[in-house]
Amino acid sequence: MDFKVADLSLAEFGRKEIRLAEHEMPGLMAIRKEYAASQPLRGAKIMGSLHMTIQTAVLIETLVALGAEVRWVSCNIFSTQDHAAAAVVVGPDGTTDAPRGVPVFAWKGETLEEYWWCTEQALTWPGGDGPNMILDDGGDATLLVHKGAEYERAGAVPAAGEDDPEEWHVIIDLLTRTVGADKKWTKIAEQIKGVTEETTTGVHRLYEMHKNGQLLFPAINVNDSVTKSKFDNKYGCRHSVIDGLNRATDVLIGGKVAVVCGYGDVGKGCADALRGQGARVIVTEIDPICALQAAMDGFQVTTLDEVVGIADIFVTATGNFNIITAEHMARMKHQAIVSNIGHFDNEIDMAGLAKLPGIEKRNIKPQVDEWVFADGHSIIVLAEGRLMNLGCATGHPSFVMSNSFTNQVIAQIELFTKTSEYPIGVYTLPKHLDEKVARLHLDALGVKLTELTKEQAAYIGVHVEGPYKSDHYRY
Ligand code: NAI
Repeated sequence: MDFKVADLSLAEFGRKEIRLAEHEMPGLMAIRKEYAASQPLRGAKIMGSLHMTIQTAVLIETLVALGAEVRWVSCNIFSTQDHAAAAVVVGPDGTTDAPRGVPVFAWKGETLEEYWWCTEQALTWPGGDGPNMILDDGGDATLLVHKGAEYERAGAVPAAGEDDPEEWHVIIDLLTRTVGADKKWTKIAEQIKGVTEETTTGVHRLYEMHKNGQLLFPAINVNDSVTKSKFDNKYGCRHSVIDGLNRATDVLIGGKVAVVCGYGDVGKGCADALRGQGARVIVTEIDPICALQAAMDGFQVTTLDEVVGIADIFVTATGNFNIITAEHMARMKHQAIVSNIGHFDNEIDMAGLAKLPGIEKRNIKPQVDEWVFADGHSIIVLAEGRLMNLGCATGHPSFVMSNSFTNQVIAQIELFTKTSEYPIGVYTLPKHLDEKVARLHLDALGVKLTELTKEQAAYIGVHVEGPYKSDHYRY
């Protein structure tokens, strides 16, 4: 088996944590039981690009339990938990000498070149074949296949421009090496039945590609299942934003001024958590609806420019770019903490920061850097501007990820087994499946549901067994 992880001897520790996580992931375990006999993913060759954590290990082993062949990478250079990666490679029945699990290409602290090399490896089955399904988080695997196929159609790979980000140069280098007469990427794209996408940013890319007529295979937007974005993005970040800050800095949050940029699902979770720790939270928004929500939730809403000099902690959660500029950072208080929890690292202008005259970067520990300005004052940047909850801590806890990943597995089964029902386009799962995911998590929390009477169901115009809301209902 081909694979590349940091250290296989961590597998035993990983396996212990996977066992604990399985208990906290009732949705995934129920799906394993439900489909044990029918094996709906037999024949599926799934390439996954999603943070290689303990929770993801339970997802991977669920896909395998349903019959799939799987190859995996992390979707971020800092988010791999090396013990999880090792345990997945070794597998539940394997040994470090004879690994019998799933090929994983991921370790904490990859370079950008290594990151994209890993992505290519996971997209290439032994013998040169590709996957027939992608499970993506942020859309990097989907992007590589689409760009490869696009440049094969064009017959050439364009050079990266001087102003393009460093990462784009790496992608162009990889494609220059692999785009060729054998039409590797075109063949991979043709075999793919579909992609299921985990996050807001990846989903945004998919809708854009579809709008521009560039999407090559159907996609299920897992992010916008209610049991994903209204839970993982919100309650997951409510947990892991504090974990990231604490593990990175251990600074007391109570009494500090914290700025959260963006009051979408992720921003709502972060602002709530920071307030829970006793911080005075200020929100920035561009959308009047979200700004009004933040105000009514009791947060001051203003512009970053107004408060950049008084805040102690900054968290970007917009999915947009250039939110905190180098100029903002230069105006911040001594030892202000600057972090991003959005998917990509361009919310904070790290390249601009590095170019400021007289700036010096002092590494404190992995994923924590002090940047000292020419005048002697400094700021602390977490995870080099990449998502701090996965870079500095261990991301979301198992229970919330069970909701997200149960949606992922159901979406994989949908696209793989009902391919003809999904012409090229971007879809969300039907509401009855969303409700099913929630239902699978109620017992573990001791939730007792009230049952509708037939008369009540008729009165509000639903079936006794659901779905209980119309598609336009907004939770
Ligand atoms: P969302 O679309 O619900 O929220 C983003 C908010 O940012 C919107 O309300 C938007 O109006 C606002 N915004 C956009 N530009 C802005 C600007 N210049 N200044 C202030 N506000 C601005 O998206 P969601 O689901 O909250 O996700 C945000 C990001 O977090 C995405 O990149 C997503 O992929 C990522 N994500 C990260 C997770 C993690 O564990 N780190 C988990 C889930 C999502």
